[in-house]
Amino acid sequence: MMDGNAICLNNLKLRRGGRTVLDIDSLSIRSGESVAVIGPNGAGKSTLLQVMACLLPFESGALTVLGEKVAPGASSIHIRQRTAMVLQKACLLNMSVRDNVALGLKIRKVPKEEVEKRVTEALRAFGIEHLGNRPARALSGGESQRVSLARAFALKPEILFLDEPFNALDLTTRTALLDEVGRMVRAAGTTTVFVTHDVTEIPFICTRTLVVNQGRIVADGSIANVLAPETRNAMMRLLHRANQVFNGDGAGDVSNVAFSVAGSK
Ligand SMILES: Nc1ncnc2c1ncn2[C@@H]1O[C@H](COP(=O)(O)OP(=O)(O)O)[C@@H](O)[C@H]1O
Ligand SMILES: [Mg+2]
Repeated sequence: MMDGNAICLNNLKLRRGGRTVLDIDSLSIRSGESVAVIGPNGAGKSTLLQVMACLLPFESGALTVLGEKVAPGASSIHIRQRTAMVLQKACLLNMSVRDNVALGLKIRKVPKEEVEKRVTEALRAFGIEHLGNRPARALSGGESQRVSLARAFALKPEILFLDEPFNALDLTTRTALLDEVGRMVRAAGTTTVFVTHDVTEIPFICTRTLVVNQGRIVADGSIANVLAPETRNAMMRLLHRANQVFNGDGAGDVSNVAFSVAGSK
């Protein structure tokens, strides 16, 4: 049964390449909540998202998504069909924009008229109605990412997973899309998990922020709390050190630390 939580993890562990990449004691995301996930490169953000989306099996522990228990080693096509994921790269198929946005709905056996209606709505929401008949492969980066977002929203997912989808966009496009996505998830009450390395993106979409480091959740709260002066320095040092370890770049002094969290690749 649903207990008001969309996603629950307990004692969840996952190793990849012989190393523990996820080790989550306890995490609950309420239905309708929008949660950001930040942390250094290699921290396990994408892995966490893939586990919650039932795209990647975990090894031990407990996971419940949308009221359904997912066993270690198992995956759930059923849950996947109630969620959507948008990645940094749009991954559009070699067909028209409309057909790309419609494909997931057809696979889910949505009636044809409803497909047409939802595709049109989604294209309109992201300002790309005029591109409907264009080959998706011929679009610019910004246009492609609008298609990718329209494709996800057309599914009316109960949970939306976003893995740094705004990274490659110019500031104007990025701000417009952040604004639009924020308004849409609030209007629909969609549970949203948003991985980003840019803390300035968080307030557009999320009210809660998780900081992940070395596969663990090391902070959980409002962005103001997570980056509050009294915790910020410790947090920044932690993330900065982790960045150095993961990147092997021995990057500069503490004045670089905020940059390490917010933007370094
Ligand atoms: N397919 C894979 N096989 C083995 N290790 C992986 C694989 N994908 C990611 N990893 C490792 O898992 C850890 C977490 O990766 P990831 O979740 O992609 O980090 P993030 O998204 O925070 O940058 C990293 O150490 C990474 O090298
Ligand atoms: Mg990642």
